[in-house]
Amino acid sequence: MKYGHFDDENREYVITNPKTPYPWINYLGNEDFFSLTSNTGGGYTFYKDAKFRRLTRYRYNNVPVDNGGKYFYIKDGDTVWSPSWKPAQTDLDSYECRHGMSYTKFKGAKNGIVTEVLQFIPLGFWGEIQQVTVKNTSSETKKIKLFSFIEWCLWNAEDDMTNYQRNLNTGEVEVEDSVLYHKTEFKERRNHYAFYSVNQDIDGFDTDRESFMGMYNGFDAPEAVVNGQPTNSFAHGWSPVASHYIEVELQPGEEKQFVFMLGYVEVEEDNKWESKAVINKKPAKEMIAKYDSVEKVQVAFDELKEYWDQLLGKIQVDSGDDKLDRMVNIWNQYQCMVTFNMSRSASFFESGIGRGMGFRDSNQDLIGFVHQIPERARERIIDIASTQFEDGSCYHQYQPLTKKGNAAVGGDFNDDPLWLILSTTEYIKETGDFSLLDELVPFDNDISKAKPHFDHLTASFYHVVNNLGPHNLPLIGRADWNDCLNLNCFSNDPNESFQTTGNKKDGKAESLMIAGLFVLYGKEYVNLCLQIGKQEEAHKAQGHIDQMIAAVKEHGWDGDWYLRAYDYYGNKLGSQENEEGKIFIESQGWCSMAEIGMEEGMVEKSLNAVKEHLDCEYGIVLNSPAFSKYYIEYGEISTYPAGYKENGGIFCHNNPWIMIGETILGRGDQAYEYYTKIAPSFLEDISELHKVEPYVYCQMIAGKEAVKPGEAKNSWLSGTASWNFYTITQYILGVKPSYEGLLINPCIPQAWDGFKIKRIFRGVTYHIEVQNPAHVSKGVKEMFVNGKKIAGNIVPVLSKDKAHSVLVVLG
Ligand code: BGC
Repeated sequence: MKYGHFDDENREYVITNPKTPYPWINYLGNEDFFSLTSNTGGGYTFYKDAKFRRLTRYRYNNVPVDNGGKYFYIKDGDTVWSPSWKPAQTDLDSYECRHGMSYTKFKGAKNGIVTEVLQFIPLGFWGEIQQVTVKNTSSETKKIKLFSFIEWCLWNAEDDMTNYQRNLNTGEVEVEDSVLYHKTEFKERRNHYAFYSVNQDIDGFDTDRESFMGMYNGFDAPEAVVNGQPTNSFAHGWSPVASHYIEVELQPGEEKQFVFMLGYVEVEEDNKWESKAVINKKPAKEMIAKYDSVEKVQVAFDELKEYWDQLLGKIQVDSGDDKLDRMVNIWNQYQCMVTFNMSRSASFFESGIGRGMGFRDSNQDLIGFVHQIPERARERIIDIASTQFEDGSCYHQYQPLTKKGNAAVGGDFNDDPLWLILSTTEYIKETGDFSLLDELVPFDNDISKAKPHFDHLTASFYHVVNNLGPHNLPLIGRADWNDCLNLNCFSNDPNESFQTTGNKKDGKAESLMIAGLFVLYGKEYVNLCLQIGKQEEAHKAQGHIDQMIAAVKEHGWDGDWYLRAYDYYGNKLGSQENEEGKIFIESQGWCSMAEIGMEEGMVEKSLNAVKEHLDCEYGIVLNSPAFSKYYIEYGEISTYPAGYKENGGIFCHNNPWIMIGETILGRGDQAYEYYTKIAPSFLEDISELHKVEPYVYCQMIAGKEAVKPGEAKNSWLSGTASWNFYTITQYILGVKPSYEGLLINPCIPQAWDGFKIKRIFRGVTYHIEVQNPAHVSKGVKEMFVNGKKIAGNIVPVLSKDKAHSVLVVLG
């Protein structure tokens, strides 16, 4: 069953039934100021950091789900309704929610009134616009009452939901004209406040929650709305809110438009006050004036559209399959930008208070957006590398507001350092900008310890070399990519975290996943050394890689697939010998991608084993058989019920590693089958089962051993977005940036006749056409650039003054 449809031309997903199986959300904002918006108006807003600068309140895990947001109520006679269906939940004559690129539009109709709400955050602006259009489509004059509503969060989202003995006393507001100001804690250490405005006179307001709601009413029927009368309340402590009240009279056919703005202001320390206890409102008024008419709003909205045209325009495929095209051209790229902005902090599954920016996550996310915003990718790489320690190890996370490592989460996840080689080399291949390597980048955010960025890569590489275990395989530390495989963190106390326990400090557990990662990104490191003339270092590093390959062949091969690990006691994991957890996806993916034992047929055997043991109708599960009981020596992984999350779930992040492995073997049909199994647009028809948005990837789909296989959770913020984009564009469609130019090496289903793809690379536009007359999966037979045949399959970097055509014939 579907709950809407794609509108590819407008780059929107159109939800036509508000009762989606789970809230289907969108993100507004692209730089510093962000909002999450569900298909029924739920969500919240923050400035830069969802934990420390939360503007509006949201209650996760609510009953019913998704309560609290940016709400509008219309009272028309005795009927109260909302254009986004919620919160009033009155049946509408029609409902539509269009989630687009950084904006959302609602359109609801009831009894001859059509109301549209357009929400977006103009580029470079610290405020959200809500443009409300009310139209009378009936033949009578209508008098309606419009209420807006938001609930302020007292800035620190965690404290806001825990520290009531203080917080119920601190709330402070001001009201001037149509602007409702929130100034809690402004008089002490804060230099910031928020406001909610509308560009016309109001007929009343409320700023105290209970005065507006009534003590015993829910969001669906606030007392003020039901009574059709605001109370003009001022909040003193308790819970400050902001609600405007406007009486609207509409002749038949007439429409009126209002521009609401939810804004954030920072003022200079010595310029905080207008007069005693009155905040300096000048900056707020300037913001309001910037978008005080629908014409000004339209200009900002057009700019936003233009911004997305540019970002998405760098890669556009025409494959003949709408489902694939809309993933590559629109939604997958969009999701990659959202993960750039959010990392894993704020979604409807991430509360915005738990996690900062992950070291490994942010490096991997980068491969999905580096082509869109290379300058910001460069800055991100430097931010990440600045949190690394001199020995190559790193904090697992850092906080976006301070950009400092998060000591509470700690480090010693031994895969972390290697991802810096991935992000850096992908950045240089995309841009040709080797100067990044010379940039002075601090260790542990200490500028006195700054070294050229290249030295950070060296530190990353040797962190593995210096941390080998009894089989000469990489020590895993607290965990590798699989945060839940805690082989040195034994916990029998339900009150402690698996990742921060780390009690087996002499831990000798080893990871085959890191071994594969090291061989692959070690080769990248060597390649980079050769590019910049560091022959000696390249040679030395290659020696370590060769030793690692030998160690994997000797100690990491189980006969038909790669082992996953050696545990703390030196026992095998991911082996025929194990009763459960006989085979794992990560080591098959990484050792295959690294081509370890390719000549001996190990890669092929490993991927065949994946097909046989891990594949199912909804994707490739992480391990099999899933663990049916708790194994203290494996950590969190075995805490999950079988078939969920890291215990036998389809962890979508890692499926592309297998797809890439398949393309290395040239098995295009298999690679594409895996791709379509988890790509959300291909799952639209099973939305009822799948539950989460059909336009973005989720972290996990319940696996074959789960109670409900195919049911998904944790949409939006997942490395799944970047890895799938990277895989489909660079390995399946096969257009891959390299130091020398664009490497073209598709691996597609044999049935395809070919496809077209536009790629803007280092500022040059290439129109690439791939033809497949012999119906093969892989192999470039000949290639023509601007009509001239070239040797090899790398398109060189050509002049920017015109677009270039590339014809690729497979065979
Ligand atoms: C984390 C990743 C981790 C993955 C697998 C995600 O939730 O953000 O860092 O690699 O889970 O455990």
